[in-house]
Amino acid sequence: MSSFKVIQHLIEELQSSATQEDDFYSDEKTRIELLGAAQGLVAALTRPDEAVASITHGAGRHMCLQVANDLGLFDLISAKSHSAREMASITGADEKLIVRIMRMMVAVGFVEQSGDRVYSATPMTKLMTLPSVKADTLEGLDILQSTPEYLKKNGYHLPRTMTETPFQFARKTELDNHKYYAEVRPETMKTFQIFMDGLYGGPARAPWWTWYPIEEVLSVDSEVAFVDVAGGNGHQTAGLLRAFPGTKGRLIVQDLPEVIQGIKVLDPRIERLPYDFLIPQPEAVKGARVFFLSNILHDHPDDVCHNILGNIRAAMTPGHSKILISDMIVPEIDPPIRQLDSDITMFFLSGGAERSPFEWTELIRTAGLKVSNFWYPPGDQNGIIEVEIA
Ligand SMILES: C[S@@+](CC[C@H](N)C(=O)[O-])C[C@H]1O[C@@H](n2cnc3c(N)ncnc32)[C@H](O)[C@@H]1O
Repeated sequence: MSSFKVIQHLIEELQSSATQEDDFYSDEKTRIELLGAAQGLVAALTRPDEAVASITHGAGRHMCLQVANDLGLFDLISAKSHSAREMASITGADEKLIVRIMRMMVAVGFVEQSGDRVYSATPMTKLMTLPSVKADTLEGLDILQSTPEYLKKNGYHLPRTMTETPFQFARKTELDNHKYYAEVRPETMKTFQIFMDGLYGGPARAPWWTWYPIEEVLSVDSEVAFVDVAGGNGHQTAGLLRAFPGTKGRLIVQDLPEVIQGIKVLDPRIERLPYDFLIPQPEAVKGARVFFLSNILHDHPDDVCHNILGNIRAAMTPGHSKILISDMIVPEIDPPIRQLDSDITMFFLSGGAERSPFEWTELIRTAGLKVSNFWYPPGDQNGIIEVEIA
């Protein structure tokens, strides 16, 4: 049998054995390995010119997604199947345009075709109806497009502060990303907090407290047990408390005043503390057992991380306090593309980065701290970097 025939046969067998009833999300490690193997097969079968064109012409897919989103097509299809003609009459768009946008959306799995120019929902259609996902679809394309020009103008240097990133260049503002959203686009700021609450939809990934021994760490007596620095709506601390309701000691969520004031529901055991992480930590959190930084350092250039870490370091008790950083730990070799997408997004949005173990170790060392352990997650989500005073 030729290799083509063998591959065709194996693919058919695989497709019939992988049914929709399978719970592919319960074992993240194996899922990621199999996905990598399947992507390797696709790469072997793809011609080099096809691979290049899929990137050079591929931006049009994002444009189609945005137009479908703007026209509210995902909401329509999610409620019930619609024909292109029906969608044209509801939206006022040309029917031929709807067909062209929809056939691209079918090709990328955002909808499926269930008849002659009739479209039905897939799990991705449903996700596209969530406000947080809609907002994320639209945000940042202008910045991405301005980034090559930004780099050309600044001589291809990485930003060192939060106010000289591609974001300021594209949006013509001097405000950092978070202050910009708080002051100029408060509605987007609220949607962003929903997005960070994990309402991005899709099957949940194993939370960090299921594979990091936090219960053991918090079993050591401490007046302040857990400080969630820049914790947003406090959803991480709330999840932790739900998992370990017997946790002793004070639990505190810090964030900018406008975010803290916007918290609607939070377990009354969790204290809310308005705080700007660029200034010294207040007396109230000194000597805490855990300072938690989730999805914070990846937002920032190294110099800003040093500022944040320095303020925490000054509030730590040596031999007792730990910093737990929940961020991606990017392998030096063969990193998952999801982590690289996130790395580039952090760069153009706020001058941040997803970091490798080597980069984490250097960043932490130069802040007068040391990495005591890297804790790897079962999939490609955030790991935990455990840090102590050097
Ligand atoms: C990417 S979100 C992470 C939120 C949360 N830790 C999580 O993992 O879901 C970044 C958070 O940093 C907060 N933030 C930004 N600048 C800040 C500052 N100067 N001081 C305190 N919090 C800040 C934002 O309001 C936002 O809630």
